[in-house]
Amino acid sequence: MPQLARRIGRAKPSAIMQVAEKAKRLKAEGRDIISFSIGVPNFLPGDHVYAAVREALAKDSGQYGSNRGADALLDAFIEHMGKIGLTGYGRVNCATGIGAKHVIYNIAEALLDEGDTIVFPTPYWTSYLDIAEIVNAKIDLLPCPASQDYKLTPAQLDAALAKKPKVFLFNNPSNPTGMVYSKDEIDALAAVVAKYPDTWVITDDIYNRMVFDGLGYHNFVHSRPELRDRVIFIDSLSKTYGMPGWRVGFMAGPEVIAQAVTTMNSNHITNVPEIVTAAAVAALSGPQDVPTQRCAEFQAKRDQVMAAMDSIPGVICPRPQGAFYVFPDISVAFGKTHQPSGLKIGNDMDLCNALLETKGVACVPGSAFGEPSALRISYTCPTPQLAPGLQRFQEFFAELA
Ligand SMILES: Cc1ncc(COP(=O)(O)O)c(C=O)c1O
Repeated sequence: MPQLARRIGRAKPSAIMQVAEKAKRLKAEGRDIISFSIGVPNFLPGDHVYAAVREALAKDSGQYGSNRGADALLDAFIEHMGKIGLTGYGRVNCATGIGAKHVIYNIAEALLDEGDTIVFPTPYWTSYLDIAEIVNAKIDLLPCPASQDYKLTPAQLDAALAKKPKVFLFNNPSNPTGMVYSKDEIDALAAVVAKYPDTWVITDDIYNRMVFDGLGYHNFVHSRPELRDRVIFIDSLSKTYGMPGWRVGFMAGPEVIAQAVTTMNSNHITNVPEIVTAAAVAALSGPQDVPTQRCAEFQAKRDQVMAAMDSIPGVICPRPQGAFYVFPDISVAFGKTHQPSGLKIGNDMDLCNALLETKGVACVPGSAFGEPSALRISYTCPTPQLAPGLQRFQEFFAELA
C-alpha cells in the first residue's frame, strides 16, 4: 500500500475544534449547552459590507485576480495600518491570503527549512505548533505561566534569541490569554530584538483593534522603526469585523517576504476571490462603528468574567486587556473530585470534560495552548448566556472536594 507523506503524520486536527464538536453533539442530543469554547466573534459586519458585496456581484468579472491581492484591497489595508501608526508601507510590502492562518502558514513555508528553529512563548495559539510541525521546524517554547501574567520577559527573549533562531513568533493581544503588552513592555522587548539581526520576527497581532482600558496597541516597529526590515505584521478581518468565514488575512513587512507569500499564493490559492475582496475593502474603509461598539461590549464582558474568576478560591486569573479570552489557572482543582458526579479531576482535560458533562459548559483545555494548568474561556456567546454560564462554572468549582 502506498504511504502518505511523513508531513501529514505531523499534522493534527485542531484540539479546539474537538471540544466544539463534542459540545455540538451534546446540544444535538438536546442538552442545554453554553459554549465558551470556540474563538468566533459572534457578530456580523456592518450593512455597508453587504451592500458592497451586492454591488460587486452585479459587476462580477468572474476572472482570476492578483496573487498578491487586488490593489484596492492592498490600499485599504495600508490605510488601515496607518490608523494604528504603522506607516510607510507600500503595496510591495504587503500580501493577502485566505485568513491570517493561511498567511502565517505561507510565511512558515517561506522562512523555515526543515530543522530551522522557531521560538515562541507558551501559552500559544494552537496553530503555531501545528504549522511549525508540518514544516518540520525545531520548536523552542518559552514558558510564560500565570505567575508572570502569561507575558514574555526581555530576559527570556534575550536568552532565546542568543541561540539565533530563524524565526521569533509573537502574538499581541494574545489568544488564548487576552494579555496585551504595554508600550514599555514592547519597547523593552524591541530593544532585545534589535540586538539579534539574524532572526525574522512575526507579530501576529490580529486582535490589535480589540484592546481595552485605553492601553493602546504597540508593535516592535513603533518602538524601533528600523526593525521593519525584519518584522512581519499579520492582520485579519476575522475577529475585528465579525468576518471569520470570509477568510481574509494580511501581512506587511519586507518586500522579499511579501513577494514570497505572493509566490506561495500563486501556487495555492491564486487569489482572494473578487466578491470577498469587495467585502474586505468595505470593512476596512467604511464606517468603523461595528468594531468599536463590539470592543466596548467585550470589555464589559471581560469585567463580568473576571468578577466570576476572582470569586473562585484558588483560581488564579491574570486580567486580560484585549481580544475576547480569559485564561484562568485552574490547577487548584487537580486531585479533587466533583462530588455530585463522582468525576475525578486529574488534569485540564478531565476538568473540561466534567464541566461539559455535568454543567453543559464548554471550555478549551489549556493543554491545547501548551499550558495544562489552565483553560480558555471565550466570552463571545450571546450576552444572556454569559451570566448563567459563569454561574454554572462557579457552581462546578464549589462542588469539588
Ligand atoms: C492569534 C491568532 N492568529 C491567527 C488566527 C487566524 O485567523 P484567521 O481567521 O484570519 O485565519 C487566529 C484565530 O483564532 C488567532 O487567534
